Amino acid sequence: MIIIKLGGSVISDKTVPYSFNREVLENIAEELSRFYPEESFILVHGGGSFGHPNARKYRIREGLTGDVERKRIGFSKTHQAMLKLNDLIIQVFLEKRLPAYSVSSSSMFLIENGHVVYGDVEVLRKLFENGFIPILFGDTAIALDKGIDILSGDQIVSYLAKMLKPSKVIFMMDVDGIYDRNPKEKDAKLIEELNAEEIRHLLKSPESAGIDVTGGIGNKLREALKIAKHSEVYFINGKVRGNLSRAIRGEKVGTRLRF
Ligand code: IPE
Repeated sequence: MIIIKLGGSVISDKTVPYSFNREVLENIAEELSRFYPEESFILVHGGGSFGHPNARKYRIREGLTGDVERKRIGFSKTHQAMLKLNDLIIQVFLEKRLPAYSVSSSSMFLIENGHVVYGDVEVLRKLFENGFIPILFGDTAIALDKGIDILSGDQIVSYLAKMLKPSKVIFMMDVDGIYDRNPKEKDAKLIEELNAEEIRHLLKSPESAGIDVTGGIGNKLREALKIAKHSEVYFINGKVRGNLSRAIRGEKVGTRLRF
């Protein structure tokens, strides 16, 4: 089993509300169809310009505080926006004859401090045992600490990897992998392989690595450190055709974690 995180910025342009990169998705579906059903997959996609603007507008991360009536409406609207993006993705897969099946993360998980504290993976297990490709997504979630919150796709991947022990976890992003400094900087070099010690070092001295550990990459690396104990982990550019196939085959692409 392979778990794939489809970053929001791969499938959607974060600067354009409700934008959907259909062509990128079609390429991804086509690549997966070369390996399915011999290989089984679970996909988790991010929010892109469907989830984040709503989450911001209704301040979902602050919890169920303030104008709680408006908050509840916003919580539902944010979830519905994610369902729309999820539907667009599922439709592309079905067109390619891949049996993608939508699973709402908010109906599966309870969270606290942004982390999953309860999740029932039995239905998911049975779905892929029966040949389906479950597609989950970063979502709104009921939170034990503050009533409501956002559950990121990366947290979902981390929890699923712990429970299901996939052979591989592939993070698809809009950059080529992990860099030794901010990839926007000139001279930034792609790191082809990282071991546990190197990741700990990157997280400990982010200034030298130019990595914003409060941001996406830091969180991804923190989760990847846990996942890599039992699964092979790849960070690849999801917009480049052929990358996904290379990672599935275990070839050199993006950044690979070796423990
Ligand atoms: C966010 O999920 C989901 C919502 C905002 C509802 P992610 O945190 O996984 O999304 P991306 O990959 O950053 O877009």
